[in-house]
Amino acid sequence: MSTIETTAPHAVDARRAEDPRADRTQPSAADLPLLPVVGGDLRVPLLDGSTVRFANLDYAATAPALQTVADRVAKVLPFSGSVHRGAGLPSQVSSALYEAARRRVGQALGARPEDHVVFTRNTTEATNLLASCVPATGDVVTLDLEHHANLLPWHRAGTGHRYVEHADTIDATFDRLEAELRRRPVALLALTGASNVTGELLPVERAADLAHAHGARLFVDAAQLAPHRAIALRDLGADYLALSGHKLYAPYGSGVLVGRADWLDAGEPYLAGGGAVREVTTSSVEWASGPARHEAGTPNLVGAAAIAAAFEALGALEDDARESHEEALRRRVLDGIAGIDGVEALRIWEGDGEAIGVVAFAVEGYAPGHVGAYLSAEHGIGVRDGRFCAHPLLARFGRPEGALRASFGVGSRTEDADRLVEALRRLVDEGPRHFYCETAGGWVPERDTRDLAAWTGLDLGLEGAAPATRSPCGNG
Ligand code: ALA
Repeated sequence: MSTIETTAPHAVDARRAEDPRADRTQPSAADLPLLPVVGGDLRVPLLDGSTVRFANLDYAATAPALQTVADRVAKVLPFSGSVHRGAGLPSQVSSALYEAARRRVGQALGARPEDHVVFTRNTTEATNLLASCVPATGDVVTLDLEHHANLLPWHRAGTGHRYVEHADTIDATFDRLEAELRRRPVALLALTGASNVTGELLPVERAADLAHAHGARLFVDAAQLAPHRAIALRDLGADYLALSGHKLYAPYGSGVLVGRADWLDAGEPYLAGGGAVREVTTSSVEWASGPARHEAGTPNLVGAAAIAAAFEALGALEDDARESHEEALRRRVLDGIAGIDGVEALRIWEGDGEAIGVVAFAVEGYAPGHVGAYLSAEHGIGVRDGRFCAHPLLARFGRPEGALRASFGVGSRTEDADRLVEALRRLVDEGPRHFYCETAGGWVPERDTRDLAAWTGLDLGLEGAAPATRSPCGNG
């Protein structure tokens, strides 16, 4: 395994924003959400006792359900029965809906007719599943910038796992990948379609050509790509692709692995159990082939139907609608923070290459968790802080303490981006209005009197927990 050296990330080019405040009154293509999402008008309480519409800037972790997805789920639920195992009519309806969802997902992803579409829990499970099917004809090769879901499962594959350090440009990174593919046999090149940390896109078609030129196959971790760009597997030439419903506006517990049938039919079933078999005796088992081989246990009808519904809604948008909506928001944040001393946007590669609606950044003098807590408690903004399940990349950035990430989607709007920029400007100019400290559970405000159970009306099981008014920072 290579050693990862620590280098500073490339600061985003600030020249495009000589006066970032100048444009901020102009209407933007993204003033309104592109599609309605559940909870899009959620109001959250702030520390000062007021409430504000929640600015959800954490789509890259878990996106809200599309309203149409929630509606479809509500429509399916009355007919919900046991998929592939039941004589009652709801069971038959459920089996038909589940297989229809499989077909729709395959169509939406441009799968080849002979590909399998396997429903999993999420991308991590899909990657683990594929890892158990990679033949021992060569190693798995990945980049050091991958999410842990596209790093750790390959250690379990029956083959070796090598990773390649990314270079300063995509071209130079591909040169390194090519050198690695030449060095020793590779069965699978496993790359993300878009970085979950910075949103930067990788050229999938080029990666497929590279893999195939060396007798390898290409797996694309599309957890971040699929919610933000149309994908056609057969046009891109990718052999396998995985995604998560909870990032695709369908947070109902399902994900997808799609791709070539031969490895999946020959591989060890991912889970041993009912539904994955043709015949069982007390001394033998004949496993099924096809998707069923890897879908033991009762399938998640709602999860599958939700993903299919999400693809229908996204597929009905104009071709570049998602791209222009998110790019307007991303640009607004980048331009805004370029004008704030001490706030630095992070990039993997030099230049200003394409990205989905994600901006990673750091604020000088503040721990990422401190900034995250401040944005939530004083401005009603939800971002993610930390190392984003991409520890090697954050180490490479020279940020073992992590960073912050703002991410957008179809429910985001200009006001969300502007509120973030303004909140960061205030943090740098004036500091937080409240005191925060780091506890075992992360950064928290001192004397937070907000009552989550009262706010949500939900039983959160918090009875008996320490009163929120207690002083977590030990200051009084
Ligand atoms: N993988 C998700 C993220 O990047 C959780 O935040």
